[in-house]
Amino acid sequence: MISAAEVRDFQLTRVPAAFLDDPYPWYAALRAQDPVHALEGGGVFLSRYDDAIAVYRNPRASSDKKAEFAPKLGDSPLYEHHTSSLVFNDPPLHTRVRRIIMGAVNQRAIARMEQDVARLVEALLADMAAKGEVDFIGDFAAQIPIEVIGNLLDIPRPERSPLRAWSVAILTGLEPKLTTRMFDAGNRAVTEFIDYLKLLIAARRAKPGDYESDVLTRLLQGEKEGEKLTDTELYHQCIFLLNAGHETTTNLIGNGLWALLNNPGELEKLRADPSLVPTAVEEMLRYDGPIQLNNRRLLDPMTLGGSTLPAGTPITIGIGAANRDAAQFPDPERFDVARKPNRHIAFGQGDHVCVGMNVARMEGRIAFSRLLAKFPKIALAGEPERDRRVRFRGLRRLPVRVG
Ligand code: HEM
Repeated sequence: MISAAEVRDFQLTRVPAAFLDDPYPWYAALRAQDPVHALEGGGVFLSRYDDAIAVYRNPRASSDKKAEFAPKLGDSPLYEHHTSSLVFNDPPLHTRVRRIIMGAVNQRAIARMEQDVARLVEALLADMAAKGEVDFIGDFAAQIPIEVIGNLLDIPRPERSPLRAWSVAILTGLEPKLTTRMFDAGNRAVTEFIDYLKLLIAARRAKPGDYESDVLTRLLQGEKEGEKLTDTELYHQCIFLLNAGHETTTNLIGNGLWALLNNPGELEKLRADPSLVPTAVEEMLRYDGPIQLNNRRLLDPMTLGGSTLPAGTPITIGIGAANRDAAQFPDPERFDVARKPNRHIAFGQGDHVCVGMNVARMEGRIAFSRLLAKFPKIALAGEPERDRRVRFRGLRRLPVRVG
């Protein structure tokens, strides 16, 4: 039970260790006692579903992060990256880049990706079967998104190995409490990533790929009739896209198996009825989603929870908290693979809603349907190691026995 004093003192910049293991009791207490919770620095943390939706749908809630990141990141590669990508911009840059990317991840494009993902998953499962005991994250969950995003930008396979570490270091630069070590590693990763992209882009300019399926070729050519991106804008959209689809999807698959292993009745139900895989994937996203926080800044005053917040207020939307709100989800603390309806906000909402959500869903569906068919007796084989960050939720290692 979380006390009233713990709720009052709650700050994302210094969460208790137990919060990192299981933030959901804190979220429940915040929703009940202080749903528009004041954060140091003048911001608020929202934990109720309806408040989260209201902010996502408010066109005067800006995604531009320059004011927020300047004091934290200074004049650094991390600042340049996190203020140039589409996700942290408002129109017109946001609209322009979003339209270019969307064309490469529509349903037709996703259908084309499926065969490749299914082939990869089968190969990974065969390797796992041969080993008997594996790290589910490194040997399976992380391998799938690397392949998918690598293909989307058509990055040659032998050049993909540094992508995961760069991605983790750059996204860690968004933690509410940033250490010097995180800051330095993030800056190094942006610089190395751009050096790599310069070579990749020069090669693609010399030999363009397929405009329909290759996002880099689409970004290079811009909208057919539209304005082209500058080189700097181009680098940061590529970096963001690689990062956005990487760790998030790894953690969907990792958190998903962890939830199933902790709810053996639901695992059994899913194994007995594989037609439940699509609703199970949605429930994994709701119950323990890979992204726990999103941010906005109010350009006009807004009334939330009965009080009016002034223009300029930084808002932290508690995605994980909203996804356990009983006002929206009956019996919200229960993991239910057949839950329907399930209007979770794991992919955000509104103008910035995740461009890759159907790509991630497809990866999740193929991963779980084939995994459970191949390994009906999959079981925990040791202590998992949790990634101890506030914004991103996932496991670094999840030892399992598949035999
Ligand atoms: C389970 C996996 C994923 C989760 C949980 C997730 C979550 C999110 C969330 C919450 C946002 C909204 C950010 C905001 O409003 O501030 C977002 C945006 C975005 N995501 Fe995803 N994502 C996932 C996978 C992917 C994949 C696979 C791709 C690419 C293929 C992708 C590309 C993007 C892009 C480009 C945006 C920015 C959209 C915009 O600003 O208009 N994501 N994602």
